[in-house]
Amino acid sequence: MSKALAGYACIRCGRASPLQLVLDSRGCLDCQSDAPANLRVAYSHETRAGWDFAATQGGPQNLWRYEAMLPVAARDAVSLGEGMTPLLAAPAMGKRLGVGRLLLKDETRNPTWSYKDRLSTVAISAARQMGAKIVATSSSGNAGASLAAYAARAGLPCVMVTYAHSAGPILAQARKYGAMVLPLASKSARWPLLADAVDRLGWFVTSPFRAPVVGSHPIGLEGYKTLAYEVAQQMDGDVPDWVVMPVCYGDALFGMWQGFLDLHERGVIARLPKMAAAEVFGSLRAALAVGGDLVPEVDAEFDTLAVSIGAAQGAFQALQVLRQSGGTAVAIGNDGLIRLQEEFAASEGIFAELASVTPLAAIARLRAGGVIEPAETVLAVVTASGLKDLDRSLSEARPLPATGGSLDNALDYLEEHYGFGTSPDERKKIVTSAG
Ligand SMILES: Cc1ncc(COP(=O)(O)O)c(C=O)c1O
Ligand SMILES: [Zn+2]
Repeated sequence: MSKALAGYACIRCGRASPLQLVLDSRGCLDCQSDAPANLRVAYSHETRAGWDFAATQGGPQNLWRYEAMLPVAARDAVSLGEGMTPLLAAPAMGKRLGVGRLLLKDETRNPTWSYKDRLSTVAISAARQMGAKIVATSSSGNAGASLAAYAARAGLPCVMVTYAHSAGPILAQARKYGAMVLPLASKSARWPLLADAVDRLGWFVTSPFRAPVVGSHPIGLEGYKTLAYEVAQQMDGDVPDWVVMPVCYGDALFGMWQGFLDLHERGVIARLPKMAAAEVFGSLRAALAVGGDLVPEVDAEFDTLAVSIGAAQGAFQALQVLRQSGGTAVAIGNDGLIRLQEEFAASEGIFAELASVTPLAAIARLRAGGVIEPAETVLAVVTASGLKDLDRSLSEARPLPATGGSLDNALDYLEEHYGFGTSPDERKKIVTSAG
């Protein structure tokens, strides 16, 4: 690689290991038997010491403006223009949640409509540069669709290992990019298959593929740091009091936190935000309560609507961030999630995947419990578009029968189906306000 990468370091004990593209997903060998922990990329000091954050302001309108802090140079990037997504104020939803200032990082605007593009652009750029012949993932969700797009762009074959009954828009999306989707009869066979492919054939796998899970490939995680850089830039050097995001294995939570640490170390930001995880089954919450570095596998007691984050076991990388930042984890069930998705879309104009709505539910809970103060600034990361899981979120929508085409019919219809008041008096109002 043209960048001066020193290798990897364990995020828990600091043990150094040599740079290689293909890793076995076990994380640190010293921590493995004790509390499995991911590795992170270690840079040789000189490459990043003189980073001029302010100068990145004039860079390209994508995350490669931060190339000095990434493992690949911008000229070698496989890019679709990812990153530099809007930071939006959300006053109506903020009011509804009881938060003085609610901000949204709208990651639905990325090239494949999810924040996984930050990981994929960096991972595939490194893969191409280091001569990978084939890339693979065990995701049947956003990470897979994103990897498929970037692999297509790089001209690399991509294998997406999934299981027989997973379906829906995301899988269709991945196939459109030409990924070789491999459905296995048994869900649990996915990881051993990939482990075998790595051992015997040297496939470059970006997702986790061993239990207990430590997280995705460290080179890809570097891409998520740019979330923090962008937020600090968009807030003119300030940061929110809280950052709340949906968390599965904590890849983005960890990456974004590293980004804030980078900025804090360099004096670009004066303080650090608290990081909160919206999860489904409460594995991180349990780990925080018990103490220690082991993240337990908890019972998956129901079928979650937020399938993108439906893991029964979190990862140490997420736990570490919650502890270091003084944050917390909130378990979010299905109740009211589709309703909240619709309120969010209807009040703010942002249509988010069900998993991406969980931070809003978490914020409401943290406000009600007094953990988030009313005057604090809260940022929710909206990780993916609502088009991704329309098959699930449509379940509560009422069917709309066709009607006649006259305006009177239409007004009756609006009243019946939407409660849009059209009594004779109100009809008069509609007419006069239009005139
Ligand atoms: C939409 C969405 N949000 C959040 C996540 C959480 O992932 P992680 O915590 O591993 O970054 C995922 C993972 O698949 C996702 O698809
Ligand atoms: Zn270690």
